[in-house]
Amino acid sequence: MVRVIGFLVGLVFAGVLLISLISNAATYFSNPPAPLASDEFHKEHKELHLASDGPFGKFDNQQLQRGFQVYSEVCSACHSLKLVSFRDLKHIGYNDAEIKKIASDWKTQVPSINPETGEPAGRKALSSDTFPSPFANEVAARAANNNALPPDLSLITKAREGGAAYVYSLLTGYANQAGYKNEKGEELLKAFPDAKTPPNLHFNPYFANLNIAMPPPLTSEGQVSYEDGTKPTVDQMAKDVSAFLVWTAEPNLASRHAAGLAVAIFLLFGAILGYLAYQNLWHEAKRVVRVTGPLDPENQAKSRRAKAKEGIAG
Ligand code: HEC
Repeated sequence: MVRVIGFLVGLVFAGVLLISLISNAATYFSNPPAPLASDEFHKEHKELHLASDGPFGKFDNQQLQRGFQVYSEVCSACHSLKLVSFRDLKHIGYNDAEIKKIASDWKTQVPSINPETGEPAGRKALSSDTFPSPFANEVAARAANNNALPPDLSLITKAREGGAAYVYSLLTGYANQAGYKNEKGEELLKAFPDAKTPPNLHFNPYFANLNIAMPPPLTSEGQVSYEDGTKPTVDQMAKDVSAFLVWTAEPNLASRHAAGLAVAIFLLFGAILGYLAYQNLWHEAKRVVRVTGPLDPENQAKSRRAKAKEGIAG
């Protein structure tokens, strides 16, 4: 009896769920949700080719150093790199003395305490410190950025679809919203008059909701001056800092690629050796088929003889 009641209660629940699913699905198809400006006018990231791309990619240290220069002169005013320490710069070609100088000249001090008084204080960065946030905490960061939080950039190229190409597109993708059209030729403010960028935000079709709180950080050619003679156009600076952020997110990429190649060669060698060993030892053996047990012709003859002797047919 209890089982029957339990079964019926379950049946009622399942029935109610099914009815609500069907009625919601019917509403969805008869009255589809209104399209959003961010669906119709969001742009896919641009193409970006870097030396570190592909299974054999290696970092281009010159480009990474230029990217670091853009980070330190521009982006570090708002963004930290909490997973990268100054001494990691050794891997992109700086020597110990240069790194010490970069750390001690860094414009943001590292929070510490005054050993004499125990009061909070700041000290110069050391090679072992990570790139500090210019803001004391999230509240201070939001207060300085119209309530938006500049994210830590250490892993940003892993955290966003498109990685470096997305960062590059975002940095070079700020546009004038008035008259902005998508690929289909529709004009944003005509199709969605309410989608006007609010004050303190900036229109950027590569950002998920089209309006980003970050003011365009790279605006004019020559904003940084490169020592290696590369022309510091906005496009070049954006590429270089994106390449640098690929390195911060995966500093071991080059050695991972090298190890992968070595493993692939080793496995290929193993496969060739295995094939040769098979050829040498077993390929003859396969051809000689030895029938054993009841199928052995000698055994069959024996059993036929025994049956004939006993007078059994078959
Ligand atoms: C004036 C401060 C400021 C500077 C300078 C700045 N940013 Fe930002 N950045 C922000 C803020 C604020 C946000 C958060 C935006 C939001 O959530 O709308 C942000 C967000 C980002 C994002 C994340 C976007 C996303 O998809 O969430 C990336 C990537 C980024 N910045 C890269 C950079 C790079 C690279 C530089 C240097 C070339 C730079 N920023 C310079 C303030 C700044």
